[in-house]
Amino acid sequence: MKRKPFIAGNWKMHKSIKEAAELANEIKRRFYDFDRAEIVLAPPFTALAAVADIIASTPVKLAAQNMFWEKEGAFTGEVSPLMLKDAGCSYVILGHSERRAYFCESDENVNKKIKAALREGILPIVCVGERLEEREAGKTIEVVERQLRGALEEIKEEEARKIVIAYEPVWAIGTGKTAAPNQAEEVHKFIRETIGKLYTEDTSSDILVIYGGSVKPENITFLIKEEDIDGALVGGASLESDKFIKIIEGAVLDV
Ligand code: 13P
Repeated sequence: MKRKPFIAGNWKMHKSIKEAAELANEIKRRFYDFDRAEIVLAPPFTALAAVADIIASTPVKLAAQNMFWEKEGAFTGEVSPLMLKDAGCSYVILGHSERRAYFCESDENVNKKIKAALREGILPIVCVGERLEEREAGKTIEVVERQLRGALEEIKEEEARKIVIAYEPVWAIGTGKTAAPNQAEEVHKFIRETIGKLYTEDTSSDILVIYGGSVKPENITFLIKEEDIDGALVGGASLESDKFIKIIEGAVLDV
């Protein structure tokens, strides 16, 4: 039996509080008692509290899109893991390629953030993935391995098991170009094998590895059929309730 599907909507820098509340309400209406997939919504910081109120007492979970590793202090503009807990977050997305590219986030920073999140009981969704020029240079595996090992540095097995890994090839994000299911599967399998080498077979077979990059209602069923693809981190298509709902329904068709 494959792992339970995990579908997260990364709303990125979209939606006013009112729009976020509307979208969360539409998701809630369909999934208020749904347990066939773990459903996670990642609104912008400004809408976290509003969305938390709406999905409270449903199985739908809340995620932030980033955080800083310190608990509190003079760090103007940053948000701490404690603040995210306070706002109702169960998860936090860390190391997204947009943060790596535009905000100089390094493997070392991502590792510090993962440790801080785990310390406060927030589950990290950790993104890895190669850029187009890296894929074309045949460096996909090398890049993913470096990001993965960097992210997991000094993290003990019982903590590592709580992490969700998101493979997001940068060239597939927001471009409409999805990795072909077998192309994604190849990297997912590699990620799972690497987890097996770093920890144990048990952890490698339990850990969730999800795919991100132009996931749509039309391609989710093909992706989820692959042995090592456990779900999706959805950007653009998570901003419209009908598409996001169809993606979740598509992800549970086969299980
Ligand atoms: P798109 O689904 O818009 O390609 O974005 C993927 C992504 O970056 C999710 O984190």
